[in-house]
Amino acid sequence: MSALQNRRILLGVTGGIAAYKAADLTRRLVEAGAEVQVVMTDGAQRFITPLTLQAVSGRAVRTSLWDESAELGMGHIELARWADLVLVAPATADLIARLAQGRADDLLTTLCLATEAPLMVAPAMNRVMWAHPATRANCDTLRERGVTIAGPGEGELAERESGPGRMLEPLDIRERVIAHFAGGALSGRRVLVTAGPTREPLDPVRYLSNRSSGRMGFAVAAAAAAAGAEVTLVTGPVALATPPGVARVDVETAQQMFDAVAERAADADILIAAAAVADYRPETAAAGKIKKTDAAMTLDLARTRDILAETAAAHPDLFAVGFAAETDDMETYARGKLRDKGLDMVVGNEVGPDKAFDREDNTLYVCWPGGEARFATASKTALARDLVTLVAERLEDSTQT
Ligand code: CTP
Repeated sequence: MSALQNRRILLGVTGGIAAYKAADLTRRLVEAGAEVQVVMTDGAQRFITPLTLQAVSGRAVRTSLWDESAELGMGHIELARWADLVLVAPATADLIARLAQGRADDLLTTLCLATEAPLMVAPAMNRVMWAHPATRANCDTLRERGVTIAGPGEGELAERESGPGRMLEPLDIRERVIAHFAGGALSGRRVLVTAGPTREPLDPVRYLSNRSSGRMGFAVAAAAAAAGAEVTLVTGPVALATPPGVARVDVETAQQMFDAVAERAADADILIAAAAVADYRPETAAAGKIKKTDAAMTLDLARTRDILAETAAAHPDLFAVGFAAETDDMETYARGKLRDKGLDMVVGNEVGPDKAFDREDNTLYVCWPGGEARFATASKTALARDLVTLVAERLEDSTQT
């Protein structure tokens, strides 16, 4: 594979426990054809030695602004010009803060300031540090300057904690780098995708749910990531692997999905709601298992909140895309949802026996204010790619007018 043939990547490694993954990342980038020059901060060298990264990159690792012999070979300004991309992975909270301030107090930050190459950072830190308003503001500042923030992912962190803050896996970062060079249609955009069914509990062992497999939403998330977007996938229970480069948040109920989306919507440019969210939930979930009796049983159901409509209304700048799965009059209903939920696009598909659910292929009808398109039957992967291209075009048009 040579997706990164002749690409020059300056890889900055900073002092977090994820620094040990920098060796694998370097190897993956080199494998894809890239030339990788590693620059380590002092902190990084406490976690992994320059020798390791020299061995996998095939180049002497740079560690100091004051290394006379290295400067004689390729001065730091020359090095800053050499790079096609500066990638910092892992990027600590401190590095992100120093970048936001425009500091140049070590070799890596000096290079970041002196380069005209695009900058991508893969944060890695404790979840509380990631959630801290200072880190949030620093990331916003970097994004405004065109820096790509790749990740972080969610999952187990050091100190046996879990939550957002974990560095994306090396293969996921490589995917982002490849998408960056491929000039992805959604490069620099942040996309929130919902997928799968929700489960609404009746008691601790029973729930109401539906037949959604989550495949369409996962395919959309994968296509958006491949198009260079920073993707967060909020999913109900499904049996699918997380696509490369996608941050995944697992939820069960409609309310949990609502909360997960509400928490992240302000940070997103696009919401693609592919989840089959339950419209009703049992009014009360019994604390213990419900025992059968001879009598018939009636369930009282309460409405769930409409994640898509409420989020679209609360964030008018968000490009909101909904799905309409219908057995009859699909196009009419799709247009109706576009209007009623105040959306920027609706993707309609027909469901029923032998259609859509649990199948790899699908047929789509897409409408937006003033236009429509039809995608012939194809795999969900191919349809997702076409859909993402269309979303990127429509978003481009709507921001221009
Ligand atoms: N949706 C949502 N939150 C809900 C319900 C639906 O975000 N509580 C989103 C779905 O992800 C999808 C779209 O809204 O993008 C589907 O619209 P909806 O009107 O809920 O579809 P149905 O329930 O199938 O339609 P109907 O009105 O015919 O019941």
